[in-house]
Amino acid sequence: MKRLGILLSGRGSNFEAIANNVASGRLEAEIAAVISNRPEAPGLQIARERGLPAVVMPSKGVAREDYDRSVVAELTKRGVDLICLAGFMRLLSADFCRAFPMRILNIHPSLLPAFPGLDAQKQALEHGVKISGCTVHFVDELLDAGPIVLQAAVLVLDQDTVDSLSARILAEEHRIYSEAIRIVLSGRWRIEGRRVVAG
Ligand code: GAR
Repeated sequence: MKRLGILLSGRGSNFEAIANNVASGRLEAEIAAVISNRPEAPGLQIARERGLPAVVMPSKGVAREDYDRSVVAELTKRGVDLICLAGFMRLLSADFCRAFPMRILNIHPSLLPAFPGLDAQKQALEHGVKISGCTVHFVDELLDAGPIVLQAAVLVLDQDTVDSLSARILAEEHRIYSEAIRIVLSGRWRIEGRRVVAG
């Protein structure tokens, strides 16, 4: 069974959706660790309630390279095959990315390369796009930039607020993250340039 390492900083709804799919057998994998840089992250509590290993690794006041080195050590110790960033609000160092090449996924609430960084849904509304969505991509050392595994489009409605748009995007996030994990764990893909293609 392939082992997932989940990194989160907050609510943890994407983690919860993944955990539900693992528990029901729709996603063949096990969750080896749920690591948070924020001790108060609700996602950690969800992990504890489910009996999953919840690991608090506070990042406050720790130099990035030192912090990332300790997280890499923890993930390695737990024999993680694939790392899933699920609302982990930190940029990974080059050393972290190099430790797990093509083995780190992230979910982002926009159709990348549009609206990288913070508050993607607000950026989309303010720009006035008619379609937004979400993206699961491999992580490299640049922000929200690695090869794209899956995307889902969401219509932006005239009456949308940041909250209403975020909620519809989040429903798609919950659907495509597990699907992307399934694809990546299957090993039936390759990278051509920036493209993730089947085969
Ligand atoms: C999600 O919308 C995720 O796409 C976003 O944070 C939220 C976390 O929610 N991630 C980013 O913006 C990364 N740049 P969750 O904690 O309920 O999964």
